[in-house]
Amino acid sequence: MTTSQSDPAGHPADRGDRRPQTLLLLGATGDLAERLLLPGLGRLVATGAHPNLHVLGSGVDVWDDERWRRRVADAFAAAGATGPRVKEVVRTTCYLPADVTKEEDLRRLLSNCHDQLVIFFALPPAITARAAAAFTQIGLPPGTRLMLEKPFGTDAVSARSLNEVLARLVPEEQIYRIDHFLGKSTVMNILGLRFANRIFEPMLSAAHVACVDIVFDETLGLAGRAGYYDGAGALIDMVQSHLLQVLALIAMDAPPTLDARDLRGRKAQVLRATRVWAEDPATWSRRGRYTAGEANGQRLPGYADEPGVDPSRGTETFAELVLCVDTWRWAGVPFRLRTGKGLAARRKEAVVTFKQPPRVPSGLIGYDQPDRLRIGFGPDRLGLDVNINGPGNPLELSQVHLVADFGPGDLPPYGEVLRGAFDGDPTLSVRGDTAEDCWRIVAPVLECWRAGAVPLREYPAGSWGPEDSLLTPVPGMATEG
Ligand code: BG6
Repeated sequence: MTTSQSDPAGHPADRGDRRPQTLLLLGATGDLAERLLLPGLGRLVATGAHPNLHVLGSGVDVWDDERWRRRVADAFAAAGATGPRVKEVVRTTCYLPADVTKEEDLRRLLSNCHDQLVIFFALPPAITARAAAAFTQIGLPPGTRLMLEKPFGTDAVSARSLNEVLARLVPEEQIYRIDHFLGKSTVMNILGLRFANRIFEPMLSAAHVACVDIVFDETLGLAGRAGYYDGAGALIDMVQSHLLQVLALIAMDAPPTLDARDLRGRKAQVLRATRVWAEDPATWSRRGRYTAGEANGQRLPGYADEPGVDPSRGTETFAELVLCVDTWRWAGVPFRLRTGKGLAARRKEAVVTFKQPPRVPSGLIGYDQPDRLRIGFGPDRLGLDVNINGPGNPLELSQVHLVADFGPGDLPPYGEVLRGAFDGDPTLSVRGDTAEDCWRIVAPVLECWRAGAVPLREYPAGSWGPEDSLLTPVPGMATEG
């Protein structure tokens, strides 16, 4: 990635430098920080590329520095992050308890930050909005960068009003709306695959593609995350954010460069043209919730019986919807998005299914499946299903699956997105208008579900999902148990 020259509004970008930086982590004692953020940070620090970094943790819990340092040290160690820089960050990090919705607490936090400031809001959307509003009352040091965890708002209206509040704090190019899928090396590999090869790109259009499936099936259940997940559900947790970002990378036109303005501009164009298929969410969406069962050898209680879940909310653990991308290139091609928890197998991939050849010459026998291009997001691999002559009769076709592993990235996704913010490069973050557009795309589905127009189906944990699922498993698909 190159550092952006300017944001969409033409503001000069805040170029990366190595002046001392402070990462102020709000929500530091939470699950996100422990499981993902701190491990990603540890790996980034271990690279030695950010030598003057100070980390200040803050949360409502009354912890002292020693307890916090243990948390940081454990998370760094679990991520395999070692070396002098890592030790130094652990030694110098501090913790301050604070209620981030209170101006006096925020003032106290800011008075402890003397370097260039990066603030990570690892907080639920409602608290993020209140904290951002409180910051407008006290102001932020010049050059402060803001990182906001998903979901960004809770609907299009709250996303817009959060954008308005943030715009009063810092310019757009200093706002990093985090979608950690953009930090996954395989997701970014879509760019290399599409635009550094001649053979795929000309085929990726309505002339040749029958449909595109973006699938993220997990065997894992709720994993103790009721506090967050029960208020979100699969559609908001995965589709509104991650899967729409993947769709944008697969469907967008080639950007002239990979800088923030070009790449995010291309993604924004394609998402602006995306809507529910036939504008009929009642027909083209499905939702479900797992009941007790066994997924991947793990016994799962029914979602409704998980501690902290309020079953009357009707939160879905499975969501599917079909979208159209109304552009010259894609008109008429269904983009089918699917995700769920507690399913039979891990299946995390985007599959482009090509149309059948106009005519398979008579005499060639056994044609029964179209070609497919697969991009796997764990295992990270590229697959191509093609029809060739099988053994024996040279005129008898059989499908083979060509597979190549994508090289691993040098950082985990959260390390990658943190690097973007430390370096002043917003390429891997979601632009404000795009965040609002992603809500606009799913809004009719949420509305229709809330009105009860699509039943909440139950599926046993360890099954393939609700029986009326729109996407039956594709024959020959790669799955991992
Ligand atoms: C998170 C979702 O953003 O992404 C989780 O909240 C989901 O529900 C996770 O399991 C999947 O991402 P990864 O990186 O674990 O594959």
